[in-house]
Amino acid sequence: MYKDMNKEEWQQLFLIHGFAIEEIKIILNRLYETYESQGESNPIEHIKTRLKSYESIARKLEQKEKPVNVANAKRYLNDIAGVRIICAFTSDIYGILEALIHQTDIKVIDIKDYIQNPKASGYQSLHILVDVRVQLSDCVERVPVEVQIRTIAMDYWATLEHKLRYKYFDKAPAHIALELKKCASIIKDLDRKMMTIKEEIDRYEVKDKEGNSTKNIEK
Ligand code: GTP
Ligand code: MG
Repeated sequence: MYKDMNKEEWQQLFLIHGFAIEEIKIILNRLYETYESQGESNPIEHIKTRLKSYESIARKLEQKEKPVNVANAKRYLNDIAGVRIICAFTSDIYGILEALIHQTDIKVIDIKDYIQNPKASGYQSLHILVDVRVQLSDCVERVPVEVQIRTIAMDYWATLEHKLRYKYFDKAPAHIALELKKCASIIKDLDRKMMTIKEEIDRYEVKDKEGNSTKNIEK
Protein backbone atom coordinates (compact mmCIF):
# COMPACT_ATOMS: atom_id res chain seq x y z
CA MET A 1 0.00 0.00 0.00
CA TYR A 2 2.56 2.61 1.08
CA LYS A 3 5.01 3.00 -1.79
CA ASP A 4 7.91 4.26 0.32
CA MET A 5 7.23 1.63 3.03
CA ASN A 6 7.47 4.12 5.91
CA LYS A 7 4.27 2.79 7.41
CA GLU A 8 4.79 4.36 10.84
CA GLU A 9 5.50 7.81 9.40
CA TRP A 10 2.34 7.66 7.31
CA GLN A 11 0.29 6.48 10.29
CA GLN A 12 1.65 9.41 12.33
CA LEU A 13 0.72 11.81 9.50
CA PHE A 14 -2.88 10.54 9.43
CA LEU A 15 -3.06 10.56 13.22
CA ILE A 16 -2.08 14.23 13.61
CA HIS A 17 -4.31 15.37 10.74
CA GLY A 18 -7.17 13.38 12.30
CA PHE A 19 -6.50 15.20 15.60
CA ALA A 20 -6.55 18.55 13.77
CA ILE A 21 -9.97 17.68 12.33
CA GLU A 22 -11.21 16.81 15.83
CA GLU A 23 -9.92 20.18 17.14
CA ILE A 24 -11.63 22.17 14.41
CA LYS A 25 -14.85 20.21 14.86
CA ILE A 26 -14.89 21.28 18.52
CA ILE A 27 -14.43 24.94 17.49
CA LEU A 28 -17.15 24.73 14.82
CA ASN A 29 -19.59 22.93 17.11
CA ARG A 30 -19.03 25.67 19.69
CA LEU A 31 -19.79 28.28 17.01
CA TYR A 32 -22.87 26.32 15.94
CA GLU A 33 -24.21 26.12 19.49
CA THR A 34 -23.51 29.84 20.03
CA TYR A 35 -25.52 30.73 16.92
CA GLU A 36 -28.31 28.37 18.09
CA SER A 37 -28.45 30.04 21.51
CA GLN A 38 -28.74 33.49 19.93
CA GLY A 39 -32.16 32.54 18.60
CA GLU A 40 -31.59 34.00 15.14
CA SER A 41 -31.36 31.64 12.20
CA ASN A 42 -28.15 29.63 12.37
CA PRO A 43 -25.84 30.40 9.40
CA ILE A 44 -24.35 26.89 9.59
CA GLU A 45 -26.52 24.31 7.83
CA HIS A 46 -24.11 21.43 8.23
CA ILE A 47 -20.44 20.49 8.47
CA LYS A 48 -18.56 17.69 6.72
CA THR A 49 -15.00 16.58 7.37
CA ARG A 50 -12.66 14.26 5.52
CA LEU A 51 -9.14 12.96 5.87
CA LYS A 52 -7.41 12.51 2.51
CA SER A 53 -6.62 8.87 1.78
CA TYR A 54 -3.10 7.63 1.06
CA GLU A 55 -4.20 6.92 -2.53
CA SER A 56 -5.40 10.52 -3.06
CA ILE A 57 -2.23 11.94 -1.50
CA ALA A 58 -0.09 9.75 -3.76
CA ARG A 59 -2.15 10.74 -6.84
CA LYS A 60 -1.82 14.44 -6.07
CA LEU A 61 1.94 14.25 -5.44
CA GLU A 62 2.36 12.32 -8.68
CA GLN A 63 0.37 15.04 -10.52
CA LYS A 64 2.79 17.57 -9.03
CA GLU A 65 5.67 15.32 -10.16
CA LYS A 66 6.97 14.92 -6.61
CA PRO A 67 8.16 11.64 -5.06
CA VAL A 68 5.49 10.11 -2.83
CA ASN A 69 6.71 10.38 0.75
CA VAL A 70 5.55 11.89 4.04
CA ALA A 71 7.90 14.88 3.84
CA ASN A 72 6.48 15.86 0.43
CA ALA A 73 2.89 15.27 1.58
CA LYS A 74 3.52 17.78 4.40
CA ARG A 75 5.39 20.18 2.16
CA TYR A 76 3.17 20.28 -0.93
CA LEU A 77 -0.34 19.42 0.28
CA ASN A 78 -2.39 21.50 2.64
CA ASP A 79 -5.69 19.71 2.27
CA ILE A 80 -4.87 16.38 3.91
CA ALA A 81 -7.34 17.52 6.57
CA GLY A 82 -10.45 19.05 5.02
CA VAL A 83 -13.56 20.63 6.47
CA ARG A 84 -16.61 21.83 4.54
CA ILE A 85 -19.13 24.23 6.05
CA ILE A 86 -22.45 24.55 4.22
CA CYS A 87 -24.46 27.74 4.73
CA ALA A 88 -27.81 29.02 3.53
CA PHE A 89 -26.83 32.46 2.18
CA THR A 90 -23.70 33.95 0.64
CA SER A 91 -23.55 36.57 3.43
CA ASP A 92 -23.38 33.73 6.00
CA ILE A 93 -20.08 32.62 4.44
CA TYR A 94 -18.35 35.89 5.24
CA GLY A 95 -19.93 35.94 8.72
CA ILE A 96 -18.35 32.56 9.45
CA LEU A 97 -15.02 33.75 8.06
CA GLU A 98 -15.12 36.67 10.52
CA ALA A 99 -15.94 34.30 13.37
CA LEU A 100 -13.04 32.01 12.43
CA ILE A 101 -10.62 34.93 12.26
CA HIS A 102 -11.59 35.79 15.85
CA GLN A 103 -10.87 32.30 17.22
CA THR A 104 -7.66 32.40 19.19
CA ASP A 105 -7.00 28.65 19.11
CA ILE A 106 -6.63 28.56 15.31
CA LYS A 107 -4.86 30.87 12.89
CA VAL A 108 -6.20 31.81 9.47
CA ILE A 109 -3.15 31.77 7.19
CA ASP A 110 -4.66 32.08 3.72
CA ILE A 111 -7.98 32.98 2.11
CA LYS A 112 -8.94 32.12 -1.50
CA ASP A 113 -12.18 33.73 -2.54
CA TYR A 114 -13.60 31.68 -5.40
CA ILE A 115 -16.92 33.50 -4.94
CA GLN A 116 -15.55 36.88 -6.00
CA ASN A 117 -13.20 35.09 -8.43
CA PRO A 118 -14.73 31.75 -9.52
CA LYS A 119 -12.46 29.07 -11.00
CA ALA A 120 -12.45 28.57 -14.80
CA SER A 121 -14.85 25.65 -14.30
CA GLY A 122 -17.36 27.98 -12.65
CA TYR A 123 -16.56 26.59 -9.18
CA GLN A 124 -17.46 28.88 -6.29
CA SER A 125 -16.53 28.58 -2.59
CA LEU A 126 -14.51 30.41 0.00
CA HIS A 127 -11.35 28.47 0.87
CA ILE A 128 -9.61 29.21 4.12
CA LEU A 129 -6.36 27.65 5.18
CA VAL A 130 -6.13 27.44 8.96
CA ASP A 131 -3.33 26.41 11.20
CA VAL A 132 -4.54 24.16 14.02
CA ARG A 133 -2.50 23.58 17.15
CA VAL A 134 -2.39 19.89 18.06
CA GLN A 135 -1.02 18.97 21.46
CA LEU A 136 0.74 15.58 21.42
CA SER A 137 2.22 13.74 24.42
CA ASP A 138 5.65 15.35 24.04
CA CYS A 139 5.27 18.25 21.60
CA VAL A 140 2.90 20.60 19.79
CA GLU A 141 2.30 20.25 16.05
CA ARG A 142 0.83 22.98 13.85
CA VAL A 143 -1.37 21.24 11.32
CA PRO A 144 -2.90 22.88 8.20
CA VAL A 145 -6.60 22.33 7.59
CA GLU A 146 -8.42 23.43 4.43
CA VAL A 147 -11.83 24.86 5.29
CA GLN A 148 -14.22 25.27 2.38
CA ILE A 149 -17.27 27.42 3.05
CA ARG A 150 -20.11 27.44 0.52
CA THR A 151 -23.85 27.86 0.18
CA ILE A 152 -26.20 24.90 -0.32
CA ALA A 153 -26.48 25.92 -3.99
CA MET A 154 -22.68 26.10 -4.47
CA ASP A 155 -22.36 22.71 -2.78
CA TYR A 156 -25.05 21.23 -5.02
CA TRP A 157 -23.19 22.43 -8.12
CA ALA A 158 -19.74 21.32 -6.89
CA THR A 159 -21.00 17.86 -5.87
CA LEU A 160 -22.75 17.17 -9.17
CA GLU A 161 -19.96 18.68 -11.26
CA HIS A 162 -17.42 16.50 -9.43
CA LYS A 163 -19.53 13.38 -10.06
CA LEU A 164 -19.96 14.17 -13.75
CA ARG A 165 -16.36 15.23 -14.33
CA TYR A 166 -15.01 12.15 -12.58
CA LYS A 167 -16.34 9.96 -15.40
CA TYR A 168 -14.01 11.76 -17.79
CA PHE A 169 -11.00 11.57 -15.47
CA ASP A 170 -11.11 15.37 -15.16
CA LYS A 171 -10.99 15.97 -18.93
CA ALA A 172 -14.62 16.57 -19.81
CA PRO A 173 -15.41 17.43 -23.46
CA ALA A 174 -15.57 21.20 -24.07
CA HIS A 175 -19.34 21.34 -24.60
CA ILE A 176 -19.98 19.54 -21.30
CA ALA A 177 -17.60 21.86 -19.45
CA LEU A 178 -19.47 24.79 -21.01
CA GLU A 179 -22.88 23.44 -19.93
CA LEU A 180 -21.57 22.97 -16.39
CA LYS A 181 -20.26 26.53 -16.39
CA LYS A 182 -23.69 27.77 -17.46
CA CYS A 183 -25.18 25.85 -14.53
CA ALA A 184 -22.69 27.61 -12.23
CA SER A 185 -23.96 30.94 -13.50
CA ILE A 186 -27.58 29.88 -12.78
CA ILE A 187 -26.47 28.91 -9.27
CA LYS A 188 -24.92 32.35 -8.79
CA ASP A 189 -28.16 34.06 -9.88
CA LEU A 190 -30.18 31.80 -7.59
CA ASP A 191 -28.00 32.63 -4.59
CA ARG A 192 -28.31 36.36 -5.40
CA LYS A 193 -32.11 36.13 -5.67
CA MET A 194 -32.37 34.23 -2.37
CA MET A 195 -30.19 36.90 -0.70
CA THR A 196 -32.47 39.65 -2.03
CA ILE A 197 -35.55 37.85 -0.68
CA LYS A 198 -33.82 37.37 2.68
CA GLU A 199 -32.86 41.03 2.88
CA GLU A 200 -36.44 42.04 2.13
CA ILE A 201 -37.86 39.68 4.75
CA ASP A 202 -35.31 40.94 7.28
CA ARG A 203 -36.76 44.43 6.85
CA TYR A 204 -40.34 43.29 7.47
CA GLU A 205 -42.10 43.20 10.76
CA VAL A 206 -41.73 39.83 12.42
CA LYS A 207 -44.28 38.69 15.00
CA ASP A 208 -43.59 36.18 17.73
CA LYS A 209 -46.05 33.44 18.80
CA GLU A 210 -47.94 35.92 21.04
CA GLY A 211 -48.34 38.33 18.13
CA ASN A 212 -45.84 40.92 19.45
CA SER A 213 -43.60 42.73 16.98
CA THR A 214 -39.97 41.77 17.26
CA LYS A 215 -38.80 44.16 14.51
CA ASN A 216 -39.96 47.49 13.19
CA ILE A 217 -41.44 47.77 9.74
CA GLU A 218 -39.19 49.72 7.40
CA LYS A 219 -40.92 51.14 4.37
P1 GTP B 1 -5.25 21.73 -5.50
O1 GTP B 1 -3.90 21.50 -6.08
O2 GTP B 1 -6.26 20.64 -5.84
O3 GTP B 1 -5.22 22.04 -4.03
O4 GTP B 1 -5.84 22.98 -6.28
P2 GTP B 1 -5.67 24.53 -5.96
O5 GTP B 1 -4.69 24.77 -4.86
O6 GTP B 1 -5.53 25.24 -7.25
O7 GTP B 1 -7.10 24.90 -5.48
P3 GTP B 1 -7.69 24.87 -4.03
O8 GTP B 1 -6.81 24.22 -3.04
O9 GTP B 1 -8.13 26.21 -3.72
O10 GTP B 1 -8.98 23.97 -4.29
C1 GTP B 1 -8.89 22.58 -4.37
C2 GTP B 1 -10.21 21.98 -3.87
O11 GTP B 1 -11.33 22.82 -4.21
C3 GTP B 1 -10.49 20.66 -4.51
O12 GTP B 1 -9.99 19.62 -3.73
C4 GTP B 1 -12.03 20.64 -4.57
O13 GTP B 1 -12.57 20.23 -3.32
C5 GTP B 1 -12.38 22.08 -4.77
N1 GTP B 1 -12.47 22.48 -6.18
C6 GTP B 1 -11.62 23.31 -6.83
N2 GTP B 1 -11.99 23.48 -8.10
C7 GTP B 1 -13.10 22.73 -8.28
C8 GTP B 1 -13.97 22.49 -9.41
O14 GTP B 1 -13.79 22.98 -10.52
N3 GTP B 1 -15.02 21.64 -9.19
C9 GTP B 1 -15.28 21.08 -7.98
N4 GTP B 1 -16.35 20.27 -7.88
N5 GTP B 1 -14.47 21.28 -6.92
C10 GTP B 1 -13.41 22.09 -7.06
MG1 MG C 1 -4.97 23.60 -2.77
